[in-house]
Formats: sequence, structure tokens, C-alpha cells
Amino acid sequence: MIGKLNHVAIVVPNLEAASALYRDTLGAQVSSPTDVAEHGVTTVFVNLPNTKIELLHPLGDQSPIAKFLAKNPAGGMHHLCYEVANIKATADKLTADGARALGKIKTGAHGKPVLFLHPKDFCGTLIELEEV
Ligand code: CO
Repeated sequence: MIGKLNHVAIVVPNLEAASALYRDTLGAQVSSPTDVAEHGVTTVFVNLPNTKIELLHPLGDQSPIAKFLAKNPAGGMHHLCYEVANIKATADKLTADGARALGKIKTGAHGKPVLFLHPKDFCGTLIELEEV
């Protein structure tokens, strides 16, 4: 049901420093920062040959990742994003199997439908599904 690993998301305390680290030290192709108000984050994408790294920084007071950063001041891995062909059908199957979705299907950082799944139901890892 799940397809490719779309990205690994890392919350960072300083987006500029993290971008420079990936661009200059690690030699990767790094995007400009984009504010995603609906999700309360600013994102930078690092494009790798086989996947992407999403660098995340809180945007606004109500950011859902503010607590994560408070608990992990140096930053840390936040979620994995898997591609699915049909997010509604996938969500229906997973909830029928007892998995908990966090909120509803929303438009994600790539302008495509996304849904987050509870880490307690997925080996302690927050999962994002993205319809491609
Ligand atoms: Co993501």
C-alpha cells in the first residue's frame, strides 16, 4: 500500500544554519525557505538522488512543532513521509484497522493531500502519508 519514501523531516532550531550545513558541508541541493501557514512551519527541502530531507522550523505561536523543539533544542528527526496512490482509501483502511489519524487530510508542503498518523500506532514514529 505505501510506496516510496518521499522525505524524512528534521526539526531544526536554525533554518539558515541547517540549510548551510546541508548545502555547503554536505554538498546537497537545498531549496529556499517556504512558509506553510496551514501547518505552522517553515520548510526547506534538501533534494537527494533517492529521497528528500525536509528541514522544519516553527512558524507562529501555535506551531505544532514548537513543543518538539523545546524538548529537543538541538533539533531531531520528526517524521517519515510515505507516498500513497489514494490517501482517502488508505486512511479508511488504516482507521478500520485501528490506527489513529492526527487530524484530517490537509494540503501539505508540496500542495498535495497529506495525513499524519499517530506515532504510538507506528513503532514510535510519526508518519505522514502523501498522495502522489
Ligand atoms: Co513532511
